[in-house]
Amino acid sequence: VIRAVVKTATNEHGMEVFGFLDGYHGLVSGRHVRLGYDDVANILTRGGTILGMSKRDRFFNIGDGLLRVRDRTRDARGVMRRLGLGGVICIGGEGTLAVANYLNGKGIPVIGVPKTIDNDVAITEQSFGFDSACTIATEAVDRLHTTADSHHRVMVLEVMGRHAGWLALHSGLAGGGDIILIPEIPFHCEAICRVLRARVRKGRRFSIIVAAEGAHPAGGGELYMVKGARGVPARLGGIGTAIAREIERRTGLECRETILGYLQRGGSPTPYDRLLATRFGHAAVRLAVAGRFGLMTSLVGGRIDSVPVARVAGITRVIPPDSPLLSAARSIGTSFGE
Ligand code: F6P
Repeated sequence: VIRAVVKTATNEHGMEVFGFLDGYHGLVSGRHVRLGYDDVANILTRGGTILGMSKRDRFFNIGDGLLRVRDRTRDARGVMRRLGLGGVICIGGEGTLAVANYLNGKGIPVIGVPKTIDNDVAITEQSFGFDSACTIATEAVDRLHTTADSHHRVMVLEVMGRHAGWLALHSGLAGGGDIILIPEIPFHCEAICRVLRARVRKGRRFSIIVAAEGAHPAGGGELYMVKGARGVPARLGGIGTAIAREIERRTGLECRETILGYLQRGGSPTPYDRLLATRFGHAAVRLAVAGRFGLMTSLVGGRIDSVPVARVAGITRVIPPDSPLLSAARSIGTSFGE
């Protein structure tokens, strides 16, 4: 996205582009770099961001009930005035876009671009980053098949996905997982065990379970959290291990867990993501040039569109119960541990 923004803005419009270092931290403190054509020439294949981010830091009281901080909207305005900026392109997931909407409400012209491996930004079919993470998670499922098959084991793969199970659903289906556990469908341990026992009876000597980190048992069971600092959402992790131990205890089947963790965020983006990022970045500049601020680029019906960032802020796009992908999965015999 950064590459496409800089290239479109400089090539087509002779504009100057600045990149704020560490996201909103750069915006409020003024830490920035000038981004010219050569600065972005070689970043297409790089994962992550060349600018850094400030995910855990908060600079604005966006009214989400989390930590109250000294609001730095005035600092942001001052920085923008000093640099002579016409607007800010905010690239990120729900947190980033909620702040973008807040700033827009304070009169700071913003354009949002949805970027998250969780794919849970509203009103866009896809966020960029998702396809790359999904490709890695699918490859992990493929690779787990080897040991699962030869050693006759139940393998549990834990992938990211706090509130939305897109990554688990897509990689689980693409990799041919037998059971997929997602936050949207609370699971029953006994239902999982029933599926596993039935597979054993049919002569299947292994099973693969793909679990989102936010998957949880029905009946308000515990979420698996690593830690939560004050005012910051707790980190999730451990559901894969908990499920594996419980399955072993209930069925006696040998069970192993793999937590994919940050491997699914790293490495080079897929061709699909490179194209989506290029299309989003290009569209973001077009919106800025047209003075159409307060919008987010989105993918609708396979085409690039734009939606008010206000309609996206604070909303998590979860898998709807009537998702065609869920019904396709059920039809081919995939279990959701219901
Ligand atoms: O927001 C994307 C996400 O990957 C979630 O799926 C996950 O819960 C979280 O980030 C992990 O964040 P961090 O790396 O900051 O612990």
